[in-house]
Amino acid sequence: MADLFDFDPRPDRYAVMGHPIAHSKSPRIHALFAQQTGQNMEYTAIQVDPGGFAQAVANFEAAGGKGLNVTVPFKQEAWELVDRRSARAERARAVNTIAFGADGRFGDNTDGVGLMRDLAGNLGFDPAGRRVLLMGAGGAARGVLGPLLERAPAALVIANRTPDRAVALARDFADLGPVTGGGYDGLEGQAFDLVINATAASLAGELPPLPAGLFAAGALAYDMMYGAAPTSFMQWAAAHGAARVCDGLGMLVEQAAESFFIWRGVRPQTAPVIDTLRRELAAA
Ligand code: ATR
Repeated sequence: MADLFDFDPRPDRYAVMGHPIAHSKSPRIHALFAQQTGQNMEYTAIQVDPGGFAQAVANFEAAGGKGLNVTVPFKQEAWELVDRRSARAERARAVNTIAFGADGRFGDNTDGVGLMRDLAGNLGFDPAGRRVLLMGAGGAARGVLGPLLERAPAALVIANRTPDRAVALARDFADLGPVTGGGYDGLEGQAFDLVINATAASLAGELPPLPAGLFAAGALAYDMMYGAAPTSFMQWAAAHGAARVCDGLGMLVEQAAESFFIWRGVRPQTAPVIDTLRRELAAA
């Protein structure tokens, strides 16, 4: 009987903070993980106004919250607000996962490992020895550069609308491998085995100015964005010689699984959750 009385039925509290946050799939993903692994937790989405992030984190922590996911536009601010960081968060200069504990706030970044698990685990693509093009030089690109270079690609080219940002980003990661940066015009005549879209262009239905002949034989085109329909980059890639075209839904679920593991010490199965989300997205 003692066990019954000792049992605390109140769920541990987690949330994702961002702006906007209404369409976040994270509460759904973590509810599916919790159900699958029998964890007693709740996970909500909290919209935070720009300028209010530090206070919102403090309030959540003071109310006994156990952990947070952080999304656009607060990942850099989250990096500054934590007491300790993982090596991968340190490198990315962005934090998407906070764990609150007796020893303070621990910050991690699971975006890069999420992409790598989707690529290597779900899609069977290993970047080792391959030519990789990363489009974009913002936070999304920065978050995945370290884990990508760890896989030892033959070359990693960063292309960006504002070439200087790509050059600076490549310089920041040059100690990890063969990475260069520039504009889209420098891509003429080059072919890649993996092309990743980490720009925000798909959000507006736009497309970076890409030359034809970008895809090597068997190439994979990967958009970090996702939606009910293929993004403009995915449509372009399918029409211009990419052998395989994928969206970022798998990466989203994989980065969530890594956050869940950090908080709960349990690794959920991702494949059934990706399937469920895919079905719900198609039906919506
Ligand atoms: P995130 O954190 O999502 O990466 P960000 O830091 O604002 O957001 O970066 C957005 C990225 O998408 C940048 O690389 C941006 O290019 P610029 O650095 O030149 O601004 C890129 N981007 C946004 N809209 C784009 C478009 N229509 N065509 C090409 N690139 C675009």
